[in-house]
Amino acid sequence: MQSRLLKRLLVGVALAGLSGTTAVAEPISPASVVAEAASPEARADALIARMTLVEKVGQVSQQFVLGSAALVETRVRAGSVGSLLFVRDPVVANRLQKMAVEEARLGIPLLFGYDVVHGLRTVFPVPLAMAATWNPDLVEQSQVVAAREARAVGIHWTFAPMLDLTRDPRWGRIVEGPGEDPYLASVLARAQVRGFQGETIGQSGRVLAGPKHFLGYGASEGGRDYDSVNLSDAQLYNLYLPPFIAAIEAGAANVMSAYMELNDVPAVANDGLLNGLLREELGFDGFVVSDANAVRSLIPQHFAADATDAAVRSIRAGNDMEMSLGAGAFDNLVGAVRDGRLDEAVVDRAVRRILIAKFRMGLFENPYVDASQAEAVLQAPEHRILARQAAEQAMVLLQNRDGVLPLQRGAHQRIAVIGPMADSPVDTVGPWSFADKPDETVTVFKGLKARLEGAAQVETAPGVQLRRGTTSMFAAMRPMPRRWDAATAEAEYARALELARRSDLIILTVGEDYYMSGEQASRVSLSLPGEQQKLIDAVAALGKPVVMVMINGRPLDIREASTRVPAILEAWHPGSEGGAAVANVLYGDVNPGGKLPITWPKDVGQIPLYYAHNRTKDPATTATRYWDGDSAPLYPFGYGLSYTDFQFSDIAVDRPVVSADGKLTVSVVVTNTGARTGDETAQLYVHQRAGRATRPVRELKGFQRVTLAPGERRTLTFTLGEAELKYWSSAERKWVVDPGLFDIWIGGDSRAELHTTFELR
Ligand code: BGC
Repeated sequence: MQSRLLKRLLVGVALAGLSGTTAVAEPISPASVVAEAASPEARADALIARMTLVEKVGQVSQQFVLGSAALVETRVRAGSVGSLLFVRDPVVANRLQKMAVEEARLGIPLLFGYDVVHGLRTVFPVPLAMAATWNPDLVEQSQVVAAREARAVGIHWTFAPMLDLTRDPRWGRIVEGPGEDPYLASVLARAQVRGFQGETIGQSGRVLAGPKHFLGYGASEGGRDYDSVNLSDAQLYNLYLPPFIAAIEAGAANVMSAYMELNDVPAVANDGLLNGLLREELGFDGFVVSDANAVRSLIPQHFAADATDAAVRSIRAGNDMEMSLGAGAFDNLVGAVRDGRLDEAVVDRAVRRILIAKFRMGLFENPYVDASQAEAVLQAPEHRILARQAAEQAMVLLQNRDGVLPLQRGAHQRIAVIGPMADSPVDTVGPWSFADKPDETVTVFKGLKARLEGAAQVETAPGVQLRRGTTSMFAAMRPMPRRWDAATAEAEYARALELARRSDLIILTVGEDYYMSGEQASRVSLSLPGEQQKLIDAVAALGKPVVMVMINGRPLDIREASTRVPAILEAWHPGSEGGAAVANVLYGDVNPGGKLPITWPKDVGQIPLYYAHNRTKDPATTATRYWDGDSAPLYPFGYGLSYTDFQFSDIAVDRPVVSADGKLTVSVVVTNTGARTGDETAQLYVHQRAGRATRPVRELKGFQRVTLAPGERRTLTFTLGEAELKYWSSAERKWVVDPGLFDIWIGGDSRAELHTTFELR
């Protein structure tokens, strides 16, 4: 398709005015024609030369479209907004795009952004669950599907992957991220960027990836969302930065800056962070977008004096685009340039980065989406199959006393699926899903009913209703269910227990609902919310077989529950096909192989609790530092059971000594010693015995998930080199590799015992 811009050039209309709002008709110039065939950079430059200041500020402004698009239409027609977010109807997208392309003076296409975090119509498990798959190929494929569905409805850009490591499960956004480990997070970051974007920007069916939130958001004090973050450089570089390095190396076109202040300077106006670390040190050459209203928030934060000050300091620091609901602080950039408070070149720099992305995406040639194809893409059966496989691979078997699981089809005739999440589509898909269709979601109840068709009678009852203490920020987009009154609550509880009494197997579905994790969903405790513990106790007291299936987005305090029920399956918010996956795992069609991407504390008072802690001066007492409790987790990082058993043996290094620039190959044999086919994830951990800094007791530096038949043994190899052994030294203020002795352990979780050593010289 010939671009609108080209058409305008050819007829020689209105293409001038370096500043001010009035367009001056300009005849076609050879330079413009050349620009059409030139690189995205040259085309961006040629276009910038023709833009008014208002149009430039339009390109650095992004507006929410929540509900009606009428509010943004004037701006679109005037060319004073360059990007919209939350449009997910292809007809609406095309209508708005037509205004931008045909009615605005320069016809610059809009860039449509959206939080395609774990799928769109087909919802995959929440990101924390995807991390539990330890399967980068599957993670990549899931984002290929997400991108395809997004592109089919006119979305060009996703605000994902979310790469904020966290060691604090009180923080609700733990559900959106990769967990606690920088190595696992980096591997998954790379996979996600590749999945979303493809090999090159502008690949068909793919979207721009926008890793977020730069940087350190997962360390907000007390796990309170948006609270200050204070991090040492060693923590920033060694923990929080690596996933972003991986995403940038994979070619991410965009980065979102964070809401909070990092060491007292808000990220969205933090020059050292954006111009310095992100661009100069990491070499990022894409554009940076703010988080929602984060620029304006500099005023209540008492960082900026007013909106102009906020806008000027943010764009100068390297934040190129403002995401805003309503009037943006960036609107004041026009006045700031005219008053001489800001050099127009700073605006041009940001505009250029954004236009390059639009050119690379091919939007000037193909601004529209084929709305007639959208529904077929959204309903593609292969998307659902992948969503089911992802949910199956993400599930972590936490406990299975007496081999209660897998269940046998036909062994129980009356099955009760009880609990607040048992038949709730919204809780099955979990936070950051807005585009799913509830009647297409397979809940745990629906999944079991379908799986046991003809073999058992399956019934459900919620028993208790969950309710967070404050209204969720997402209640406006996904209305919360009406609150039960006391009489209903009592009747529902009784009905669930009565159902349990009549049944000969109870599947108890407990955890947290849609609104209880995610943004603005921090908690002061990790207890099972509401009356769930009471329900568990009452059901367990019936003395019937009980299996607990958890639907949630963070580790919860299940110490008591784990003594009441023999089997616990962590299903997370498993997505559109979640219930089908739960049924397949419970009945053994699928052997669970997910592993925790986080340390699961026993008690909220232990937080922060993570496996990669330093040895400290008195290593022997690390587990006994509290006089009123121990400091060991309930489940360690990397943990997860299977219906079969695995054994690790024959660990070996190909040489005892390696040079700093050399490579070491480590091999290990893993054997399925049980009676079922299953997946094991071999995890390799290293530890440095001495050096310029104290280093963690162990750090994950390699992993492989493999499927093994009963009796099958496989030799796996891992490579270690500078990339795995270097760390950022706060003493030297640079990346270093220390010579000396290193330990290696390989096994099925972070407690791996099989050990060897090597020396780096
Ligand atoms: C979140 C971002 C998200 C944005 C747009 C913000 O509140 O922090 O992660 O991308 O909203 O929905």
